[in-house]
Amino acid sequence: MPDFKDQTVLITGGSRGLGKAMSLGFAQQGATVIIASRKQDSCAALADEITQQGGKAIGIAANIGKTDDIDALVSQIKTRCGRVDLLINNAGTNIALGPLTDLTPEQFDKMYQVNLRGPWYLASQIAPMMAASGGGSIINILSVAAMRPPAFNGFYAATKSGLESMTKVMAQEWAEDNIRVNAIAPGPYRSDLVDSSIAAIPGFEEGMRNSTLLKRIAETEEILKPVFYLATDGNITGITLIADGGLTAH
Ligand SMILES: NC(=O)c1ccc[n+]([C@@H]2O[C@H](COP(=O)([O-])OP(=O)(O)OC[C@H]3O[C@@H](n4cnc5c(N)ncnc54)[C@H](OP(=O)(O)O)[C@@H]3O)[C@@H](O)[C@H]2O)c1
Repeated sequence: MPDFKDQTVLITGGSRGLGKAMSLGFAQQGATVIIASRKQDSCAALADEITQQGGKAIGIAANIGKTDDIDALVSQIKTRCGRVDLLINNAGTNIALGPLTDLTPEQFDKMYQVNLRGPWYLASQIAPMMAASGGGSIINILSVAAMRPPAFNGFYAATKSGLESMTKVMAQEWAEDNIRVNAIAPGPYRSDLVDSSIAAIPGFEEGMRNSTLLKRIAETEEILKPVFYLATDGNITGITLIADGGLTAH
């Protein structure tokens, strides 16, 4: 297993789902984890759990859709930690399921603010800190919807494919500062986000299973392995690693 001792890892949406699995996983591998989700209670509760297990973590509430929150988050990180070695732009939302003709400009703005503007703005604040400390790594969490955009999921697919483009631009612009920038495009895995779609949409679970070659919805921890891979490799930048059980292979 990789060793992240002496590294500080900032995980947005780090309190639940994949974010929680990454917070626990990086802490177990020795990192100091900064958990940044909207609810301070959830961030603090997970940070306490990690600390009680002998790990190092702090929780700082921030809504990634709000630039003021990101400014405050970065300011607190500078004061309390001084550095970030790995940023994982994981927080994402999908509040706009439905036909394009029914969706609203307000839903569009919210989706763009959380899924694309926030990850860009946060990375743009963190990259100069990384450059000042000799480099770092950024991982943007996309979705296979970026490369296989499904009907009735237009804003989600568009924001995730926008983040894939942004990943490549970040990789080009920050390589000279020794900052690697990559993305992971998961297929369906167990989380609150997917469970709420399963509860709301008849046939969603079966459809998700059958969309993959492996005919199953992955466990959250399975996505952790590709995250560790991109976080440790020294030579890979500008790629999207697809972890989708074969969804995009057919
Ligand atoms: N689940 C899947 O099958 C799947 C597949 C492909 C890609 N993804 C992507 O993977 C990422 C994680 O998804 P998940 O399914 O693990 O999510 P999840 O279980 O719904 O958890 C979302 C996390 O993000 C936080 N969050 C939500 N909105 C936020 C905001 N505006 N600012 C800051 N934090 C916010 C939540 O905490 P608070 O409520 O406290 O803010 C929570 O910690 C997302 O980018 C998603 O698009 C998921």
